Order: sequence, then C-alpha cells, then structure tokens
Amino acid sequence: MGIRLMSPRKTLLKLTSMADALNNIINRKKAHAKFDNGIVGEESNDVNIAPNLKKYRIYNQKDLSIALGLFNTKSLSKLIDDIGVDGIYLNEKNAKIWRFNQLAVNKLLEATGRRLKFVRTDKQSCQVYVVSNLKGGAGKTTSVFNFGAGLANAVGSFYRVGIIDLDPQGSLSAKLVPYLSPDAFTVSDFLCNDLELDEGETFEQIVSESFLETNIPHLRILPASINDIRFEAHVKNKASEAFARNESFSAHDSLEPIIEAVKDQFDIIFIDTPPKVTESVIAAHYSATSLIIPLRPADNDRDSSAKYLTTLSNVYKTLMNVGHKGYNNVRVVHVGVSNSAVDKEISSQVNVALNASCLPDFENSEALKKCDAQSLSVFEISPFDFAKQGASRKITQNGSRTQLEAAQVNLTNIALNIEADMQNVWQNEECGGEL
Ligand SMILES: Nc1ncnc2c1ncn2[C@@H]1O[C@H](COP(=O)(O)OP(=O)(O)O)[C@@H](O)[C@H]1O
Ligand SMILES: [Mg+2]
Repeated sequence: MGIRLMSPRKTLLKLTSMADALNNIINRKKAHAKFDNGIVGEESNDVNIAPNLKKYRIYNQKDLSIALGLFNTKSLSKLIDDIGVDGIYLNEKNAKIWRFNQLAVNKLLEATGRRLKFVRTDKQSCQVYVVSNLKGGAGKTTSVFNFGAGLANAVGSFYRVGIIDLDPQGSLSAKLVPYLSPDAFTVSDFLCNDLELDEGETFEQIVSESFLETNIPHLRILPASINDIRFEAHVKNKASEAFARNESFSAHDSLEPIIEAVKDQFDIIFIDTPPKVTESVIAAHYSATSLIIPLRPADNDRDSSAKYLTTLSNVYKTLMNVGHKGYNNVRVVHVGVSNSAVDKEISSQVNVALNASCLPDFENSEALKKCDAQSLSVFEISPFDFAKQGASRKITQNGSRTQLEAAQVNLTNIALNIEADMQNVWQNEECGGEL
C-alpha cells in the first residue's frame, strides 16, 4: 500500500475539473456557432435558422441551377417569381445575391415536380432500420446522419425520416439538436415508460412532439441523453421484481410503443446504436424491419467483423424465439473505403462473399470528415460555401468543391439504394406479399 499522490478527494476534484474543462470548450464552441448565426437567446427571426437553431443549407445561384436543372437565369427568375419564394437579396453595393434556403429550394423542387413528397398507402408500412456494430468508430452515427439526410432531401422523393438516438453518448443528438433543453424528453423517458401524463395528454402525443425538428427538412430526431443508461437498470429491476412473482420480464419490445406512436409520421426510421449489446439495442433489433451493418475495411482483415456477425446471429436467435417476424433487408456497408488497393480488395472480396448484401461503399472522404467536425452532414452545405475561406474567423479551408461534391454523389448513391430496397418492400406490401 503506497501513498498515492492524490487523495480520493483530490482525485475526484481532478476528474470533475477535467470534465468541466472539456464541457467549457464545447459550450464555448456552441455559443460561438450561435453568435455566428446571429442568434440571441433561444429564438431567431432569421428565416435561415431552423427550429434546432442550426442553419438550413443555403443555395447560391449556381447551386440552385444545379438542383433545379435550370441554367438560364431568366427562366430561373421567372420560376422563383411564379412560385413566390424569397432568396434574392441586395448587398451593400446594391448587387443581387442569391441565398435560397433548403425550405425554399424544396418548394421549387416540388413545384417543378422534380421531387415530390412520398405518399405511402395504407398497406405500406414505415421502414425501421437499426444501424449496428459492436465496434466504436465503425461509422454507425455517420451513416445514420448522412443516409438519413440523403433520404430526406436528396433522392427521388422527400422521405419523412425519423431518427432514434439509442446511444446514451448522444453523438448524433449533439449534431442535430446541439442546443437541446435539459428538460427535453429523451429515449429512456419512453423506454422506461414512467412519464406522468397531464390531463388530456397522451403518450403518443408526447412521443411525437419529442421527435424534434431539425435544419434538415423532413428529418426529426428523438434525442438521447447520458441519463438513458438508466434503462438498463430499469430492466434489471423489472426482471427481478418479476422473478420474485415467478414471472418473467423481457425488454425486447420496449421500443415498440415509441415506433407505434410515430409510424404514420415517418416513412423510414433509423436507429443509431451504442457499441455494446444493451437491452435497448436488443429492443432495437427486435423492432427493426431492416438492418444495416457498417464495417470498416481494416476490420474485415482481422476477425472482428466476422465475430460481430456471429454475435448478431446469436442475438437474432433469441429474438426469433420471442416471435420476431424477420427482416426485409440486411445490408452491409463498407465505411471509409479509401482508394488504396488494399481497401478496395477487402471490400470487393466481402461484397462477393456476401452476395449482393452490400450497399455501395461509403467512401473515405476528407470532405465528409470536415463536415462531420462541424456537425454537418454532407448535404447541409453548398459545395461553393464549403470551399470558401471562412469570412468571420480565420478558418482553414475545408477543401475543394469537387471533394464535397464527390461525397454528396457517393451518399446520394447509397441513399438511392436504400430507397430501392424500401420501394421493393412497399411494392411487396402493396400486392399482399405476392411478389
Ligand atoms: N466515409 C468516411 N470518411 C472519412 N471519415 C469517416 C467516414 N465515415 C465516418 N468517418 C469518421 O469516423 C469517425 C467515427 O465514425 P462514427 O460514425 O462516429 O462511428 P460509430 O458511430 O460507429 O462509433 C468519425 O469521426 C467520422 O467522422
Ligand atoms: Mg456512434
């Protein structure tokens, strides 16, 4: 028993002050981002600021031309006048500047029929995708974020996307709802189902309101908080209470009421998961109708990916025994595939072995990393703005326009494949499983 340099009290002090120091950095960053967006307090009058206090993506004239496939300024201006959307402003020199936000662009896309809202029939069900892998850094969160953003605004239709953040670390919540109120409901409030409802309030209503709007139109998120780990203890308590009564309790269907509550409001729900098999993760696999497994090419060379698929099979065996109905699709996506021959070889080898179960490779991208570091999906920023030198602060340049465009094309392509999978399911449902 040697004498420690720090007493227990000092150790605790050290740890809390370390936590405070890091929290300070984050809060300063958030405050700075708010300031940059011209936000004072919790609200903004700026039409370009969304309910989550992040900026909608802004389109300049070139972006707009590309989005609408209209390259003649006259016809573009006429369309804008006809539809009556705002976005052309005069600068100090009285020159016109084009700054259309995503809401305005979506209006124009709809008006021209280039992209329409998807209307599900009664027979077609909301598709629930769980994105899982036991490894941290496999690309789960990045996949949910960017695939979700792609399906909401960048493919054939505007799909209504719901995200459930099941990772108590809340990394996706921090990106999508950075200024989340401490009073906001998070996943465990509904998983544990211990809410006290006011009169006239229903569970469905509160769940629905807790899927918060973001700056990505058609995409809402049910956020996570670190408190959500309490669900694991909740399940243990329930199980031992049940055991004392000679009954059994299992948590596999605890997500069902949440999904039931909002299934008519979304076409697709993505569930982001922590890198562990927790009770909530098992519930996610139970409630999901499809599965996406992100894999890093480097991991496929070791046996961790194979081990994960074995674990997953075992998890699924137990779900099957409690009545799971089967998935529509199980897809692997290779994340961070670089141009190196090694990465390409590994991904193609696995693609062949898994026989058409893979989505297109999610390519390694510096541009995506730059966006991610700024809490943006690749669809939230104009490639022109991306390539610009920061005006208000001396931010180093992100990279080139073409780099971001390449990432957008790549992610659109993946989203299109998920869309095709969903359309296939919906066709099958439409004809009563006679496909
Ligand atoms: N295609 C990609 N190219 C470059 N970096 C990526 C790519 N996909 C993910 N990343 C980065 O990898 C890191 C881990 O990804 P993340 O999605 O958080 O993994 P997980 O949720 O599985 O722990 C993040 O910093 C993210 O920016
Ligand atoms: Mg994650």
